[in-house]
Amino acid sequence: MDAIRIYGGNCLEGQTTVQGSKNASLPILAATLLINGVCEIENCPDISDVYHMQRLLTSLGCRVERKGTCVCVNTCCLSMCDMPADSVCVMRSSIMLLGALLARTGRVCMEYPGGCVIGARPIDLHLKSLRKMGVVIEEKETEFCAETSRLKGAAIKLPFVSVGVTENLILAAVLAEGVTVIEPAAREPEIQALCGFLQEAGAQIEGSGTGRLVIHGVKALKPVKYRVPADRIVAGTYLCACMCAGGRIFLKDAPVCHMESILSHAVRMGAAVTCEPDGILVDGRDHESTCNRLTTGCYPMFPTDMQSPAMAVMAASGRKGCIEETVFENRFRIVGELNKMGANIMVRGNTAYVNGSGRLCGAIVQAQELRGGAALVIAALSAEGTSIVTNRHYIDRGYEDIVLNLRRLGADVELA
Ligand code: EPZ
Repeated sequence: MDAIRIYGGNCLEGQTTVQGSKNASLPILAATLLINGVCEIENCPDISDVYHMQRLLTSLGCRVERKGTCVCVNTCCLSMCDMPADSVCVMRSSIMLLGALLARTGRVCMEYPGGCVIGARPIDLHLKSLRKMGVVIEEKETEFCAETSRLKGAAIKLPFVSVGVTENLILAAVLAEGVTVIEPAAREPEIQALCGFLQEAGAQIEGSGTGRLVIHGVKALKPVKYRVPADRIVAGTYLCACMCAGGRIFLKDAPVCHMESILSHAVRMGAAVTCEPDGILVDGRDHESTCNRLTTGCYPMFPTDMQSPAMAVMAASGRKGCIEETVFENRFRIVGELNKMGANIMVRGNTAYVNGSGRLCGAIVQAQELRGGAALVIAALSAEGTSIVTNRHYIDRGYEDIVLNLRRLGADVELA
């Protein structure tokens, strides 16, 4: 079955090493298209979204090889051809190939990448911004074709912060003619990692990590070896798992410097955390909780990708609280599933009200997207009895070996 069976009640003990960042790996793999040669991307997580990105690069004629956690991409034989529609549609991040391919080849035709249950996730800002850089885009029923003789630097003013648009514009701008200014630019650590990779390769980027990026186009970039940072959302998810199940775990390699908001909220929700040079010690035992309200936002605010795991912690704690989601319009899909486990959660507009109901009970629940699916697993760790989380494939998109890792930490979980 495509499911996970969890027997709730075990505390977590021990150490787990945090995987490389999915949301840094994907744009960096797309960025290899800008470089004629062999790039080695280290600490790439072995997850299905990265597999789909590798498959897309291969379909474009690249030679892609995984050696352990290192993915080597040779783009010397890049041969434009259509990308497999199933990979493009199943993984939204395929849109990131747009900027890189336009910079390398000047022409791209691709299917509209899928939305998903958390929101419509349109690409209007991607297309509108690229048009300002001299790209002619013809939109058809199910696909669009973009073409340019030469990308030109431009001053791009965005109506709001978008991670994907910032990434696409960076990829389009690094080899463009002239200077590109992006405002407001996303400041996420994943953007900083992308800028780090490109700067290693010779790109001229100012303002990485700030809300204003200035990119001076250069003639060419050189092949590099680059290590992807650890995944702050995966680290935060295991932290929430420990808060649900109780116990003490060490999150080895957790990117402490990128987790300030996650850690401060965790402490306010009752965890004790100790930051070490090589990771974070988490004591999930029930400490005094002083936080009953959470609002998601762009970095450095509390990340939207941590909203569902945090809701699982609130539901498992039996205490009252509320969560406001400000980034995606439909990111409370796990409320119905958590209520099947006995949580007492109500949604009004973009706020979920967790009314606290004591211990959760095991149930059969359905993952409907990546972070919500992981949140159901960690909620089940605290539930009384057996839970089954179906649609495991959503969780496999972003979490390497979640069942094996939780078992090693003492959880009673198995593939079902
Ligand atoms: C990235 O998605 C991440 N994905 C998401 O992580 C993350 O939740 C999101 O950023 C916000 O931090 C990857 O990095 C692969 P946005 P992205 O553009 O780029 C709207 C996960 O679980 N918008 O910052 O798609 C959009 O609908 C995933 O790992 C437009 O309206 O997010 C959303 O409401 C989930 N038009 C808002 O902007 C556009 O053209 C912010 O989205 C583009 C976006």
